[in-house]
Amino acid sequence: MGQLEGKVALVTGGNSGMGLAMAQEFARQGARVVIFGRDLESLRRAEETIAGECLSVAGDVRSLDALARLAKDVQDRFGSIDILVANAGGATIEPFHEVTEETFDYQSDVNFKGVFFTIQYLLPKMNDAGAIIIVSSSANSRAVPGMSVYGAAKSAVRSLARTLTLELADRKIRVNVLTPGPVATAAYERTGLSEEEIAAFQSRQSEQIPLARIGDPQEMAQAALFLASSASSFVAGAELVADGGMTQV
Ligand SMILES: NC(=O)c1ccc[n+]([C@@H]2O[C@H](COP(=O)([O-])OP(=O)(O)OC[C@H]3O[C@@H](n4cnc5c(N)ncnc54)[C@H](OP(=O)(O)O)[C@@H]3O)[C@@H](O)[C@H]2O)c1
Repeated sequence: MGQLEGKVALVTGGNSGMGLAMAQEFARQGARVVIFGRDLESLRRAEETIAGECLSVAGDVRSLDALARLAKDVQDRFGSIDILVANAGGATIEPFHEVTEETFDYQSDVNFKGVFFTIQYLLPKMNDAGAIIIVSSSANSRAVPGMSVYGAAKSAVRSLARTLTLELADRKIRVNVLTPGPVATAAYERTGLSEEEIAAFQSRQSEQIPLARIGDPQEMAQAALFLASSASSFVAGAELVADGGMTQV
């Protein structure tokens, strides 16, 4: 029997990278899965790779209307959810002096506002004793040049998990943070760097990781499964850092 039998799990950004790996793993463990992202084509492709019942909903986490629609679609299809992974996000590399109001708003809206309101809008659909997992980044504790807004937004969601742990304690909802280090996903292509620059960036990062390599999305899915399942029943308000030791030594 799977570890998530009978559960319903929602993963934002479940159409790509580590979110997709989580959605696939949760489904293998018996969960029915909802995925949310903007790109219709990758949502459709992702749905085909997820076992069992899967609902995909298109929308932008920055839009409260889209989140309200997501909550309604979830309610109509499954009634409620047990697991919520606020994973959608991403970085662009931009030196501090080049950050504009527009790029600042975009980065903070996707990585902080989006997480905040995803949780707020989905909470009424969440069963008591559920699990919320917020995906942060090792950039929340370790400076990465060009990631000033992203790093701050990822620190903000770490803080949010602490507050929510207390505010949701009466409902026995556990809120935890998964903090990945560098992981091989499409995120790198979205940074605005060229292929050569990405290879050089990853190689520099690998040198700073005790395990001497970039992580795999499947490794993040296993970490998320731990936080989503009863295996972590006494873990709340915590941060699970999965970065090959990069920020831990
Ligand atoms: N890869 C890494 O090295 C790394 C390291 C630390 C933390 N992280 C974090 O891990 C999470 C997942 O990233 P990933 O590496 O798996 O990258 P990815 O493959 O680029 O996936 C990002 C996902 O987020 C969704 N997304 C982005 N902006 C969105 C928006 N405005 N509204 C709705 N969905 C949105 C994307 O879907 P659409 O494009 O269809 O919207 C996509 O499914 C992110 O929060 C990222 O910051 C990544």
